[in-house]
Amino acid sequence: LKDLIGKTADLIRNSEKTVALTGAGISTESGIPDYRSKGTGLWEKFDPIAKASATALLSDPAEFYRFNLPRWTAYRDAEPNTAHRALAKLEEAGLLFSLITQNIDGLHIKAGSMRVWEVHGHLRTCRCMKCSSSYPFTELTRQFEKGTNPPVCPKCSGVLRPDVVLFEDPMGKDYLRALEDLRGCRLLIVVGSSLAVYPVADMPSYAQKLVIVNREPTPWDSRAEVVAHCSAGEFFEGLLEALGL
Ligand code: NAD
Ligand code: APR
Ligand code: ZN
Repeated sequence: LKDLIGKTADLIRNSEKTVALTGAGISTESGIPDYRSKGTGLWEKFDPIAKASATALLSDPAEFYRFNLPRWTAYRDAEPNTAHRALAKLEEAGLLFSLITQNIDGLHIKAGSMRVWEVHGHLRTCRCMKCSSSYPFTELTRQFEKGTNPPVCPKCSGVLRPDVVLFEDPMGKDYLRALEDLRGCRLLIVVGSSLAVYPVADMPSYAQKLVIVNREPTPWDSRAEVVAHCSAGEFFEGLLEALGL
């Protein structure tokens, strides 16, 4: 592992434009389970299309919120870990251009990262599906907790939805920003993503060089300069040390 970390430090020092791409795996050490880890991943137990798709929301919004709102509320209470903080430090040191995340937990922003593209949305706001009015996310939890399920728009009584990208939803504006940042990307560091969900799973093809930090193998391992099958926290603790940060 020390060699892999050393090699990554060299790649970062010599790269003109480094971008990071993170997935659910970077947040497991903050206590949030991921989607596809063997044995513990959420989508190992449940079908994402049945539980977290746009169709699920439209066909049975109350059940959609019963399943999803408790876990999302827990995400909002989580704290960033070593890996989130290390990525914020890399950016601050001028070694990381930007960060693309599939996570909706907001932990990169909490850790202090500045240029973050949340390509699957976030849990800070929600919106009305009828009149498009926007509200803080707490409008969902407030109504849910007092027994109003599904939560509805205070103005028009339309059903509210979170500003996350569900299966079957189109990608949002952050996705386009992320693609722009990948232009001219010399080094992409992928952390804690199975690289199984499109369109994000295609992003490694835009980078000249790849570093992959993931406990399990990914489809891109054979194309990477460095593949570290270890915990993200352990890797980034070593990386900061190797870079003298
Ligand atoms: P996709 O590549 O994720 O899926 C393609 C299709 O494959 C799906 O529409 C579905 O028919 C099928 N599929 C994939 N995994 C399946 C499984 N485990 N069981 C049954 N069918 C499966 O593309 P998409 O549907 O266009 O997804 C849109 C985006 O929404 C994705 O980027 C996804 O990651 C995101 N998303 C976000 C959340 C969230 O909570 N933030 C939740 C779900 C999906
Ligand atoms: N350190 C390193 N790798 C880890 C750690 C850790 N502490 N914990 C888990 N992993 C790895 C797992 O082995 C797994 O390969 O992280 C990966 C997480 O993959 P997924 O659970 O598939 O998460 P992600 O790639 O973010 O999923 C993409 O799917 O359902 C959707 O919208 C959801 O954004 C999510 C998308
Ligand atoms: Zn409304």
